[in-house]
Amino acid sequence: MDASSDEGVVTEEVIVPRRVGQASAEPWDVLSPVDIEDGSGSAQNRLLIKGGRVVNDDMMQDADVYIEDGIIKQVGTNLHTPGGTRVIEAKGHLVMPGGIDTHTHMQMPFMGTQAIDDFYTGTRAALAGGTTMIMDFALPQRGESLIEAFHRWRTWADPKVCCDYAIHVGVTWWSDKVAQEMEELTNEQGVNSFKMFMAYKDTWQLNDEELLESFKRCKELGALAQVHAENGDVIKENSKKLLELGITGPEGHEMSRPEEVEAEATNRACVLANQVNCPLYVVHVMSKSAADVVSSKRKQGHVVFGEPIAASLGTDGTHHYHKCWRHAAGHVMGPPLRPDSSTPKYLMDLLANGDLQTTGTDNCTFSAAQKALGKDDFTKIPNGVNGVEDRMSVIWEKGVVSGKMDPCRFVAVTSTNAAKIFNIYPKKGRIAVGSDADIVVWNPHATRVISAKTHHQAVDFNIFEGMEVHGIAEFVVCHGRVVVEEGEVRAISGMGKYVPTPVFNPHVYGRLEERERANAPCKVERAPYEGPVAQLNGQGMQEGGIIPVQQETFYTRGPTRSGGVNLHDSSFHVSGAQVNDKSPKRPSVKVNNPPGGRSSGSFW
Ligand code: URP
Ligand code: ZN
Ligand code: ZN
Repeated sequence: MDASSDEGVVTEEVIVPRRVGQASAEPWDVLSPVDIEDGSGSAQNRLLIKGGRVVNDDMMQDADVYIEDGIIKQVGTNLHTPGGTRVIEAKGHLVMPGGIDTHTHMQMPFMGTQAIDDFYTGTRAALAGGTTMIMDFALPQRGESLIEAFHRWRTWADPKVCCDYAIHVGVTWWSDKVAQEMEELTNEQGVNSFKMFMAYKDTWQLNDEELLESFKRCKELGALAQVHAENGDVIKENSKKLLELGITGPEGHEMSRPEEVEAEATNRACVLANQVNCPLYVVHVMSKSAADVVSSKRKQGHVVFGEPIAASLGTDGTHHYHKCWRHAAGHVMGPPLRPDSSTPKYLMDLLANGDLQTTGTDNCTFSAAQKALGKDDFTKIPNGVNGVEDRMSVIWEKGVVSGKMDPCRFVAVTSTNAAKIFNIYPKKGRIAVGSDADIVVWNPHATRVISAKTHHQAVDFNIFEGMEVHGIAEFVVCHGRVVVEEGEVRAISGMGKYVPTPVFNPHVYGRLEERERANAPCKVERAPYEGPVAQLNGQGMQEGGIIPVQQETFYTRGPTRSGGVNLHDSSFHVSGAQVNDKSPKRPSVKVNNPPGGRSSGSFW
């Protein structure tokens, strides 16, 4: 597909960034944006994507898209565009919002080493695959300031990022200072999501009390709590036993943390978050049983979201048992890929049908030599796999080509839902007037074979090696600039921007606030008890023996303000009933206006 002129109305201008004062500008990959000469300063900023099928999460239309200064200005047919506009012919192609990868770890220091894909190679690879924004994690060491960690990540990212990025911050320990820093991060640094770890005992793991405190704090601040859901105590115990048995290879990693270890933690996180009315986002959903927990909690009305990743949707954990150590170690990540080979299809079904919502990659890559730090002990193999480059193609292949989802749902799970859940919609995640011009021109029919030999990532291994996929990002536009051109990446380090994510997201907090209002406990008005009262002695014991406690007293809490069953009664949730389903009486509803605007309903 060639860029071409448009019947004399607009003319093509090839975008080739040039270093000021240089005749030839081949190495554009290392230019900083301040070094880029913008030609006339005009055509660079105008682009028409012509003749394609525009796909949003809720509709498809045959339309042209006109872009100026990085923003979508017109969507429709027969558009009037100024001369000097560059044209991309998109006939037969899908024109979709650029992908948003909700979960990456570029150049993260981890397990004694540092992820090999940094913010440059990682985001350049993201663009190659059609992803125009990543969300990375700033993870402080235990005892370290969250704010310092956040700034360190920004310092790493800003000069290198080729696409936009946002930051989730890890709550890896708990104190009053952490609580106070969370507020500063939300108010002043544009952070609206915090990740809590239930695994990595002795480093990042929080206990239940700390989890509860952090969830309460997220709720107060209008943030979204994220969890790495695995039971770290069980993993530690199992790992010790396996090593004692002489199981030191990568299979030990998988054996030490079976599905129920993930499912138990997922359930626990959902219960804890729900008890304090905090919205929850479960990162890297890796197993059928953990996905079932998310799905069933959603059916019970919990405000919880689930994020499978390219790895869990595209491959499985049988690779841990491969005879080649490097191959097996290349698949080690936590929670592990599952040896049940029906898992990817199952997760894709849930994603297609709305039980799971977003897709990340947990891109955290280590070379063979780095993985070999654990050659004699699986607990020392740095955890992490690739995915940022191949996520879109893998989901297209396993989701759309397989017949499980249509292109609209593909857009929802690769971009729009993330934009909504992290409160950057419709700036991101939509092709519409006023939205950022982050666009992928997708060839749904072209194929490629994924390989570490040809991928753009720095890592020397690819968990999808040899997989043939349909769906190629032929052109990628980021901030209105063509950064992938007929498959060729023309990324510029430092071109991406930090995207602040505001708190009190109406897409998340809208329903939560209604739910909280409807479930607020309410006191039973009654005449005071006037009978005898037992006397306690100095040790707090009743004088003259113990009277058995009557069982009914536990189950007779009053209704909530709206007349619904009190959520604190343990027998409430098991039926799958939503709030107030059992109560025919609904009060008139006064809709609150949450600070970020109003919710227009549930989108997932
Ligand atoms: O194996 C993984 N997942 N590595 C990155 C750290 C994390 O837990 O997300
Ligand atoms: Zn994690
Ligand atoms: Zn991760």
